[in-house]
Amino acid sequence: MDPAPPSRRSWAEPFKIKVVEPVRLVSPELRLTAIREAGYNTFLLRSQDVYIDLLTDSGTSAMSDRQWAGMMLGDEAYAGSRNFYHLEETVRSVYGYQHLIPTHQGRGAEHIISRVLIKPGNIIPGNMYFTTTRLHQELAGGSFIDVIIPEAHDPASEHPFKGNVDLGKLEAVIGEYGASRIPYVSIAATVNMAGGQPISLENLRAVRELTRGHGIRVILDATRVAENAYFIQQREPGQQGRTIAEIVRETCSLTDGCTMSAKKDALVNIGGFLAVNDWDIFEEARNIVVIYEGLHTYGGMAGRDMEAVAIGLEESVDDEHIRARVGQVLYLGEKLRAWGIPIVLPIGGHGIFLDAKAFLPHLDQSVYPAQALAAAIYLDSGVRTMERGIVSAGRDKDTGLEYRPKLELVRVTIPRRVYTQAHMDVVAESILAVYQERSNVRGLRMVYEPRYLRFFQARFEPLG
Ligand code: F0G
Repeated sequence: MDPAPPSRRSWAEPFKIKVVEPVRLVSPELRLTAIREAGYNTFLLRSQDVYIDLLTDSGTSAMSDRQWAGMMLGDEAYAGSRNFYHLEETVRSVYGYQHLIPTHQGRGAEHIISRVLIKPGNIIPGNMYFTTTRLHQELAGGSFIDVIIPEAHDPASEHPFKGNVDLGKLEAVIGEYGASRIPYVSIAATVNMAGGQPISLENLRAVRELTRGHGIRVILDATRVAENAYFIQQREPGQQGRTIAEIVRETCSLTDGCTMSAKKDALVNIGGFLAVNDWDIFEEARNIVVIYEGLHTYGGMAGRDMEAVAIGLEESVDDEHIRARVGQVLYLGEKLRAWGIPIVLPIGGHGIFLDAKAFLPHLDQSVYPAQALAAAIYLDSGVRTMERGIVSAGRDKDTGLEYRPKLELVRVTIPRRVYTQAHMDVVAESILAVYQERSNVRGLRMVYEPRYLRFFQARFEPLG
């Protein structure tokens, strides 16, 4: 008898594998030693002690054969490298911004735009903070105010665009502080800290309208703008017939410039840039970049890196690529969801976010449940994930008190084009194993706290 036909046809990655890098299982004894030595912080593990590395999608993607070929075309001139001009041309055609300032990675661009636009006492509203973005705003003398819709702070809300700005809140912030104290609105697409959640075109158009009326700029964090475009294409009424490239172009056209960590969407291991339309901002940024990053035609990147970014940017807006990329994240998320494991919904673009408060209801936020859960997953299987909760949120710069974010999450982040479906199965089964033994997971005590971005280097010990 013929087997029953599947209810829907499978899809597969739009690539085949040309080079492989071995990964190895890590023994339980070694995992215990390694996590103790790492102070229960997955950022402090050595990568050789990791089996499947889902710490981040940043700089961890696999480059294509075209990108590797491009690396050989690196023009390593100090000034005016041909790869810079190729990148500039590509940013103009893919994103539409006129002026490009390369930087070593995203935070380099954040530093520069913050220095150029923010004056002490300024207010920067945005759709949820990102760690480095907010810190650079604060170091420039500004204060960040979260104006994301409330649904974004609720892991169970299935709002299709949890990255949207609450327009009423934004208007109230403008009313309270006055437009002259607001240099720009900071818009992320997608919103990393909310779980890789998108902002809709409709909402961004409304933000543009509102800010235009007050003469306030909009600066986009374009780090995952192609993934954002995929969700717009899938979910936003009237957008189904459009390509990812068209949606990305329109998204950028609704803003005045962007900061970019090319280590995500753009499929490279290092690189970033600032891109703006306004000549005056460009001029000032070009002045500052030479102090902190490098000459304005390389900004901390080698010629070969700029070439890889240029090619990667084009690949990032390919419809087949982005469908497979987000599709792999959905595959893992659907599996966990079917087993009743609490995750942030809807499933986001770059990873699965475990809801540590619901996963470990016996742990108060003060004992760092998400940090403890990330360590427990590593102990189970050698799979590395990371905390996105109270440790990442840090402290209020004025009161010194710990923020207590509503979202206490573990991010299971998927690098692009790196792991297979079988790896996703192994990851899902490890998370399930920890879920079944969740009552045994103990809280943590922080024993070392760095001054800035503490989640990277903080150390912990288990309680009890
Ligand atoms: N903006 C967003 C939304 C990011 O996710 C990141 C980095 C940056 C800016 C900063 O870029 O790392 O190139 O300096 N996110 C990484 C992560 C670190 O793991 O999510 P960068």
